[in-house]
Amino acid sequence: MSYSQPPVTGKAGDVTTKDGGKSWFYTDVVKDHFFNPRNFMHEDANPDDYNAIGKVGSPACGDELRVWMKVDPASERVLDFRWKTFGCGSAIASTSMASVMVTENGGMTLTEARTIKPQHIMDRLGGLPARKFHCSVLCDKALRDAINDFYRRTDQVDKMVVEASRIIDPISKVTDHDIEEAVLEGATTIEAVQAKTKVGIGNPSVLPAVEELIRFYKEKYFG
Ligand code: FES
Repeated sequence: MSYSQPPVTGKAGDVTTKDGGKSWFYTDVVKDHFFNPRNFMHEDANPDDYNAIGKVGSPACGDELRVWMKVDPASERVLDFRWKTFGCGSAIASTSMASVMVTENGGMTLTEARTIKPQHIMDRLGGLPARKFHCSVLCDKALRDAINDFYRRTDQVDKMVVEASRIIDPISKVTDHDIEEAVLEGATTIEAVQAKTKVGIGNPSVLPAVEELIRFYKEKYFG
């Protein structure tokens, strides 16, 4: 299944770029979650009622997402999941959907919640425009950050999963995470990734490793 929708030319879509050159559609499910977000963290809510907090910023667009989880310490099920974002409509819809997924049917265990991938959120939303894919990764990462926070607070540090970044090109200081972000922003060829990151420019010996990573992230996020 393809989770991303190609842009359409002209002004026929739900959203059109400023120059009018491209536009794209959102599914009815995305629009529903954007206009009626589920589990939003209201101003009068008390953050101390939650025992796990996650926060992530997007290098792709500078937006930010915070999440609050209430986890049952005995069963480690997610009883409540609230969020707040300085992000776009796709981030709002993705996080709203993720909040439903982790709390429905009595709540996922943290082990189950950790297996949620952006593709699963896409699946429930009916897809997102390709240029908005990184917005769904935002909530996936914030959820993982909150899960780590719960384990940190409960002295279960052995259960924390921290993804360290690896330098791919020591000259340009580009890491595998930089390449991941470039692919999520739509760069799927070596030339496009180089245009965004400068990886391998003046150091072509790293290009085979870059190509391999592009293949890996394309497969991971776009199937
Ligand atoms: S979260 Fe920044 S553009 Fe969607």
